[in-house]
Parts: sequence; structure tokens; C-alpha cells
Amino acid sequence: MRELPEMARETIVIDTDPGQDDAVALLLAFASQAELDLRAITTVAGNVPVAQTTANALRVRDLAGCDAVPVHRGAERPLVCALETAEFVCGPDGLAGSGLPAPRSAVAPGHAVDALIALLRAAPDDSVTLCPLGPLTNLAFAFRLAPEVLPKVRRIVLMGGAIGLGNITPAAEFNIHVDPHAAAIVFGCGRPIVMLGLGVTLKAIASHAQVAGLLATGNAASRCVHGMVTRPRPGGLGSDGHPMHDACVVAYLLWPELFAGRDCFLAVETGEGPLRGRTTIDWNGRLKRPANAHVVAEVEAEALFTRLFARLATLP
Ligand code: RIB
Ligand code: CA
Repeated sequence: MRELPEMARETIVIDTDPGQDDAVALLLAFASQAELDLRAITTVAGNVPVAQTTANALRVRDLAGCDAVPVHRGAERPLVCALETAEFVCGPDGLAGSGLPAPRSAVAPGHAVDALIALLRAAPDDSVTLCPLGPLTNLAFAFRLAPEVLPKVRRIVLMGGAIGLGNITPAAEFNIHVDPHAAAIVFGCGRPIVMLGLGVTLKAIASHAQVAGLLATGNAASRCVHGMVTRPRPGGLGSDGHPMHDACVVAYLLWPELFAGRDCFLAVETGEGPLRGRTTIDWNGRLKRPANAHVVAEVEAEALFTRLFARLATLP
């Protein structure tokens, strides 16, 4: 029997602003080391200030017991705009419901942008997948400071944007709204982009039965996720449960067959005002502009969470 070639692991960097859904994405990545080579975690201000997103990344890493993955602290604020955070959604420390203790491990030395540039400089061409789960400030800094690293980026698989209504404003999704200038730089960088926006991530809600199964599983990671996804919903954000926006990014890497979308041209509104951060997505190709993103719009949510929660069961 001819041995099948070992499936090559995808080299990834997760840029993140934990946030509960970031935490689930990180846990899924930690539980998927057969498929994913998570080389570094870089943090950015978003859901909460960067000191807290950094502490939260360490808290989640401690839970998974994956101290070998360095966490580098990144941008304190967007490129141009003032920082806007979202404690009203994720709680004062950004991980309401997690029950996680303070970090017991330490952040890696060096700024996240410098670490990202150094990692890419040392990598072969087309070899590193960047997975931004928050505002795109760190990636924009890296691409502007060291444009020569762009050919090292295999693809960018990000959570952000919206085909329809936004969440933080009627026009814009939070990650893009917070730093629209960074988003415009990233969407204009010329590397392959997969965009998982609200059009798909708002469908990524586990069923009550699936959530209840987390408690039956009983390990620490499953209990942590159960606490986060069963915390009260803030006012004005609906009552169907907590969408696991960012987990869709890592799930897409692992199980792309569960998702569907199309290549589109899209532009980001950077002006101040009610449209700031709007991602205008040419879903029907009216503008005849070359596509700059694969926009994902559908997900098989039940299968996603069945697989995701089974992976979480393999963690401590
Ligand atoms: O709009 C949802 C996105 O904003 C998610 O990534 C969430 O964690 C916040 O960063
Ligand atoms: Ca996030």
C-alpha cells in the first residue's frame, strides 16, 4: 500500500484581540497541531485594550498548556482613529464567563509587528498564513514597514467585514470599523485573502444541545467555552446565543468544505462618519473590478460545532 504523503501542516500566525470568540479560535488552533503549525500569537487592541488582550491570550494559552507558542504584544491603538473597545459585549476583562485565572506565563519580548516581520523574513515564499481576528493594525504596520515580506504570506484568512448590516454600527463590522485605514492597507496588499465576515459568522452559533454537551465533556477547555457561550447576551445584540465569529477562521483552515463563498472585489470606507469601516462587497460583480478577496457567506454550523467541540475535548 503506497503511503499517502503526510498532509503538510499549514504554518500560521494568529493576530488577535481576545475576546471570547478569539479564545475559542485559539483553543481550536491549539487542539489542531496535526494540521496547523501555530508559530506565534500577536495581540492587538480591539475588544479590550492591548494590555488586556495580551493577558487574555496568555490566559487561554495557559489553559491549553501550549507555552511553546510565543505571545507578542502589539499595537496599542489604530493607525489613525482613536481606539474604540467593546467591553459592553465581552465584559470588563474581555473574557466574561471564562472563569480563567490571571496569566501564569509571560509575554515574549519584542513588539508584535517586529516579531511578525522577523518571522516572515525567515520564511520561504508563500509559506505563512496570517489569521487576523481583530483590527488589522499589526498587519498594516508590518506591510508598510517591510513590504518585502509580502511574498512570504501564503494567504490571509481573516474575520472582519460585512456583506449586510454591521454590528458596531449599521454600516460596519467591529474589526474593520476600529481600524479602517489598516483594513484598506490589508485588502489592498495583493496577497490572497479569505474574508469571513458577519454574513457567515452570525450563522456560527452552536445549538443548545451542542452547548450542553460541553459540560458533559467536562474538561477544563470545554467548561471554559461553556461559560463563555452561556453568559448573558448584551442588550441590542439579539438573543440567539453568542456567534463564534473568530472560530470560523480556524475552522475554515481545517474544514473548508463546511463553508461557501465567492471571489469578490471589495473596498473599505476610511472616511469618518456613519459609513466608516463599511466593506462594500461587489457580490454580483457590477463594478467589473478584479476580486481582492474570497468572501465566505455560508457555513454548515451544526457540523462546524460538532467538529469544533470534539477538538476541544482533546485539550486539558
Ligand atoms: O465583529 C466581531 C469581531 O470583533 C470579532 O473578532 C470579535 O472578537 C471582535 O474582535
Ligand atoms: Ca476578535
